[in-house]
Amino acid sequence: MKALVTGASSGIGRELVKLLCSEKDNRVMGVARNEKALIELRENFKECFIPVQADLSTKSGVDLVVKEAVEKLGEIELLVNNAGFGLYKRILDHTDEELVSMTMVNFISPILLTKKLVDAMKPGSTVVYVITAGVYVILDDLPIYGLLYF
Ligand SMILES: NC(=O)c1ccc[n+]([C@@H]2O[C@H](COP(=O)([O-])OP(=O)(O)OC[C@H]3O[C@@H](n4cnc5c(N)ncnc54)[C@H](OP(=O)(O)O)[C@@H]3O)[C@@H](O)[C@H]2O)c1
Repeated sequence: MKALVTGASSGIGRELVKLLCSEKDNRVMGVARNEKALIELRENFKECFIPVQADLSTKSGVDLVVKEAVEKLGEIELLVNNAGFGLYKRILDHTDEELVSMTMVNFISPILLTKKLVDAMKPGSTVVYVITAGVYVILDDLPIYGLLYF
């Protein structure tokens, strides 16, 4: 299987890369900003893992991922939009940059990636959006983060 996993440098994304690369013949492209963590995965999983250092808070970062995925994976069977973050702040305490960045990474980039990669996905492929329980409950400490997934 050929898979693209965002947020591959830690947590859920990194564990998913490990799982996918434990199966023979899988190829996994992993996206994150942390170069050291990406290099470590490449060293551990060799040709199974293709690192892409990109910032998904920017449209140029999304475009870079799309270009690399099409060139190096070709057909994609699994897209996991996992990259995301929350800030423990009241809404009005967020800076402009934090608001734009969180909206891009958590909400807009996953949709852009899906839209731009859908032509590289054959029928029956899977797109996963990792979201949050904040969809169902009010997260007082994480107000923007919870709202973004509604
Ligand atoms: N852990 C939980 O309890 C929980 C609960 C509900 C939902 N979630 C969601 O599940 C997903 C994974 O969570 P996690 O706990 O595994 O988080 P994590 O360990 O903090 O990992 C987040 C990943 O997102 C990447 N990321 C963040 N900002 C990015 C950016 N601007 N560009 C590219 N990549 C970026 C990080 O990579 P770099 O920093 O290297 O860029 C990292 O690989 C997130 O979407 C999170 O919101 C988690």
